[in-house]
Amino acid sequence: MKLGRSELHRAARLSVAPMMDWTDRHCRYLHRLLSRQTLLYTEMVTAPALVRGGAVHLLDFSPEEHPVALQLGGSDPEELAQAARLGEEAGYDEINLNCGCPSDRVQSGTFGAVLMRDPGLVAECVAAMRAAVSVEVTVKCRIGVDDQTPEEVLPEFLSRVGAAGCERFTIHARKAWLQGLSPKENRDIPPLDYELVQRMRGMFGGLHLSVNGGITSLDEAERFLEAGLDGVMVGRAAYHDPTAILAQADRRIFGAEGDSDPVEVARQMLPYIERHLSEGGKLGQVTRHMLGLFAGKPGARAWRRILSEGAHKPGAGPELVQEALGAVTGVAA
Ligand SMILES: Cc1cc2nc3c(=O)[nH]c(=O)nc-3n(C[C@H](O)[C@H](O)[C@H](O)COP(=O)(O)O)c2cc1C
Repeated sequence: MKLGRSELHRAARLSVAPMMDWTDRHCRYLHRLLSRQTLLYTEMVTAPALVRGGAVHLLDFSPEEHPVALQLGGSDPEELAQAARLGEEAGYDEINLNCGCPSDRVQSGTFGAVLMRDPGLVAECVAAMRAAVSVEVTVKCRIGVDDQTPEEVLPEFLSRVGAAGCERFTIHARKAWLQGLSPKENRDIPPLDYELVQRMRGMFGGLHLSVNGGITSLDEAERFLEAGLDGVMVGRAAYHDPTAILAQADRRIFGAEGDSDPVEVARQMLPYIERHLSEGGKLGQVTRHMLGLFAGKPGARAWRRILSEGAHKPGAGPELVQEALGAVTGVAA
């Protein structure tokens, strides 16, 4: 079921970041079993792929994934508006515009972090998307790019894009260098400036601001929320160690009852896997996202090895997951 705006703002207290090739629908299904409340983001889907390329299959997702946000890449207001409409029709709870991704491919299409240089255009894009859909339109951005001065450009960006109707931003608290650093380096090398994000919280009372970048534990996430940030977005840590970030999130971040158990979650993936295989999918497409489920726990190594070595063999099916679970639980499969 789709969430209303205030429920969505609440869900955004904790979110899993959009990550290309990682947060696909299978990954999100797994994350949803670990946490019922955390907001999940798709990988970025480009507006041209949807609108000109007709690749609407990229929007497929399972109803269990709600609350789930579609991240779009693009910089043409009309095209983004059309793509947002397709996203809303597909059932997404939120449409997010990527203003933070520095990869070459993305730069060549004038979208992603390069848009930090053009808040007027981002405002136009947001206004066009808002006019096209009734679900919330949000933005994920950096604190600046290249030689920009974040203390100046970030408030200007938030103020102009906010005035166009974006009420919720996720700020990756570091600059992107558009030349000279790879996308991976751009996630590690430019220094993090959480204090600047915190200052924005003070300046923009009407906006919902989430912080992103380098957050590796639920303890850290809680500290940001206690310090007044509205939300925390976790990327790589949630992917590599989903249990550490998500299994206690419903209780600790959202005040709900109960933690999830990764063994139980692995078992709950079995019917999903069966369904995926019966629709012609491959086991490895799902299990590759499950490798980190027992990170740091006894049996984790055998779990990873059994799944990564076996998932691509012909005829591999859910029994491989049961065998790997045996290595974790000590119970013969
Ligand atoms: C494999 C990978 C793919 C990513 N793809 C996207 C993307 O499609 N859109 C986006 O806005 N950010 C993307 N990011 C950046 C993350 O959303 C996040 O901002 C970044 O990893 C910093 O957060 P973290 O330190 O918690 O990982 C990607 C990151 C990774 C590791």
